[in-house]
Amino acid sequence: MSDPMPATTPASQLEQKIQARTATVGVVGLGYVGLPLLRAFFQAGFPVLGYDVDQEKIDKLHNGESYLKHLGTDFALEMSQSDKFHATTDEQKLGDADVIILCVPTPLGKHGEPDMSYITRSTEIVAKVLRKGQLITLESTTYPGTTRGDCIPILAKTGLVVGEDYFVAYSPEREDPGRQNHSTQTIPKLVGGVDEVSGKLATLLYGAAIAEVVPVETAEIAEAAKLLENIYRCVNIALVNELKPVLASMNIDVWKVVDAAKTKPFGFQAFYPGPGLGGHCIPIDPYYLTWKAREFGHHTRFIELAGEVNNSMPSYVIRRTMEGLNEVSKSMRGAKVLVIGLAYKPDVDDVRETPAAEIIKLLFEHGAEVSYHDPHVPLFAGMRKYMEYRMHSVPLDQDAIKQADCVLIVTNHSNIDWQMIGDNARLVVDSRNAMADVLPIKGAYVQA
Ligand SMILES: NC(=O)c1ccc[n+]([C@@H]2O[C@H](COP(=O)([O-])OP(=O)(O)OC[C@H]3O[C@@H](n4cnc5c(N)ncnc54)[C@H](O)[C@@H]3O)[C@@H](O)[C@H]2O)c1
Repeated sequence: MSDPMPATTPASQLEQKIQARTATVGVVGLGYVGLPLLRAFFQAGFPVLGYDVDQEKIDKLHNGESYLKHLGTDFALEMSQSDKFHATTDEQKLGDADVIILCVPTPLGKHGEPDMSYITRSTEIVAKVLRKGQLITLESTTYPGTTRGDCIPILAKTGLVVGEDYFVAYSPEREDPGRQNHSTQTIPKLVGGVDEVSGKLATLLYGAAIAEVVPVETAEIAEAAKLLENIYRCVNIALVNELKPVLASMNIDVWKVVDAAKTKPFGFQAFYPGPGLGGHCIPIDPYYLTWKAREFGHHTRFIELAGEVNNSMPSYVIRRTMEGLNEVSKSMRGAKVLVIGLAYKPDVDDVRETPAAEIIKLLFEHGAEVSYHDPHVPLFAGMRKYMEYRMHSVPLDQDAIKQADCVLIVTNHSNIDWQMIGDNARLVVDSRNAMADVLPIKGAYVQA
């Protein structure tokens, strides 16, 4: 920080600890966001403390194992052998941390409303150990006003004063699991404090581990910016998803259209259509704003419309599958359909909100015999309304492809042999343009 603080205040003491990298960084929630973040602070030389309610995750980390495939295992082994790494399910241990970063889930409730229980619960845990000189940052994606309006009232019950005794900021996570050209350390990080000192301390902290930190004036700006990013994505994906059936009816390949349009060097960013939205973020986060907007008398029509279009894609894929089967004189009832890819996007093992689950459900409901292959998801244990569809991935070989009446591509993982599919399938239904480079496709081919 430019102006050093008086040496005896909680803020200046924390400032010194961050500068000396002796501040212990605690991360609450060691999932897709929390674990890479813990790794980033560990690699930046800070002592780190991971806290999660999931004992299995803590045990794995103690054993030097990573449960997130895309992160590899080297870092977990290195951490487990270091005295600068601790992981625990004991919430009291968080009292040892100088910084506590919350990376807990923010799902939707039964009626599409924000489920704030994880943020509330973890903030209550922090309140139990809160002491002078701690910095608390929230990273979970949420509606604007959460940090100040939901978290601080819980922390304030301790009697400690924010901005003087302890410090609070919001810093959204932009992690994109599986992305090769960026990591936690290289993605610019927005930071907004609930007051000036909190903002400065949080900026200093993240700047010690992350290449580029972008301080913004308030926590609310940072919260809203994260939602804007995800809504932008959701709406633009909906736009190309809407164009997909329209252009297909005109016998125009939507992927070729997007590739042509993206040659414009300004004013256009390419988004590609697919079988629907998946993951923990894009299908969920926009509705946090929708919910909050109602409090202020606003309707978020773009968000609702985008949701409607994106949610209709699995049904479109089913319709195209039926049309494809029709081309090879088969009905959906009794057809053997081999689904390729269950994860919500290529090269990850994450099935949260995957459109594949809805597609599999619809296939079963239409009487198809369904199997799937996904090299990253050996078992689909079902989820929420898909609990009954517990299945194991089948091996992908010529026999499996030949036996299927239809190979339905839902996720285009990079290590799948598309040529083998093109050489052996009777019918390929492709919702990802995965077969673009396969020539020739011997059987029938339908884009979905
Ligand atoms: N996954 C992503 O790519 C991504 C990207 C950007 C932002 N986000 C946001 O980050 C947040 C976390 O997402 P995630 O994908 O890491 O979720 P996750 O489910 O992978 O991880 C959350 C972890 O929190 C733990 N947990 C739950 N309650 C807890 C509690 N009370 N105390 C301690 N640990 C607890 C869970 O056991 C789990 O390990 C969400 O708000 C999400 O929207 C996620």
